[in-house]
Amino acid sequence: EGSDTPPGNKWSFSGPFGKFDRGALQRGLKVYKEVCSSCHGLSYIAFRNLAEAGGPSYSVAQAAAFASEYKIKDGPNDAGDMFERPGRPADYFPSPFPNEQAARAANGGAAPPDLSLITKARSYKRGFPWFIFDVFTQYQEQGPDYVAAVLQGYEDHAPAGVTIPEGSYFNKYFPGHAIKMPKPLSDGQVTYDDGSPATVAQYAKDVTTFLMWTAEPHMEARKQLGFQVFVFLIIFAGLMYFTKKKVWADAH
Ligand code: HEM
Repeated sequence: EGSDTPPGNKWSFSGPFGKFDRGALQRGLKVYKEVCSSCHGLSYIAFRNLAEAGGPSYSVAQAAAFASEYKIKDGPNDAGDMFERPGRPADYFPSPFPNEQAARAANGGAAPPDLSLITKARSYKRGFPWFIFDVFTQYQEQGPDYVAAVLQGYEDHAPAGVTIPEGSYFNKYFPGHAIKMPKPLSDGQVTYDDGSPATVAQYAKDVTTFLMWTAEPHMEARKQLGFQVFVFLIIFAGLMYFTKKKVWADAH
């Protein structure tokens, strides 16, 4: 049982001024589309979100073109039939399986989880009172560090003494080490057109950055507002200090 501690990464989105690396978001979307989407849904993200501020920064036209590459189930039409049509910006990413039973049946009994919120779902806060310290550590990065590690944690042979059941694969970082997701990434699998290395390590980092964005599409706005609130409070505290001095100047 157990698992190794995922190694830390230098994420562009970490810290109070962190932002998403646009290139990583766009490459990560490509990795999701070409690799992960055959098993994992992304059901909280709509195509139009790809053109919103703080995200992969596509134009509205690019997001619409991207959407139109998908087939979306719709209906019933006037004749009462279900039908498929090209995706529109308002559609959400379609899920690969019609329901959980089908997802389990196709994956040896383990349903591939929806990835929209996975980077948040795989971070953990410690219990009272230790969670106080998580504020000062890189709590925000536990989830992404884990996801990136799992994608790179496959080994051809389990270490001596570890038996992996049929239909499972050895993964250094998955709790219990026996994961039912086959190694999804290998070098050269996805073609990048910006010169970034076509390696498992790069794919893993890019798709994880993308999945951090899907879990918190408004992170940049949140951090910016948080900073503005701090600036305001510092100025306001100064004003109050001098106001207090003035009001009490004649007090004996
Ligand atoms: C589980 C990510 C591709 C099948 C997972 C988990 C993550 C993940 C984060 C959760 C692990 C956990 O529970 O802690 C990804 C990413 C992919 C990808 C980012 C693309 C790069 C695939 C593909 C398949 C697949 C192509 C199917 C062939 C599964 C299954 C599980 C799973 C069956 C459940 C594993 C278990 O609970 O034992 N994936 N995945 N994944 N994935 Fe993937």
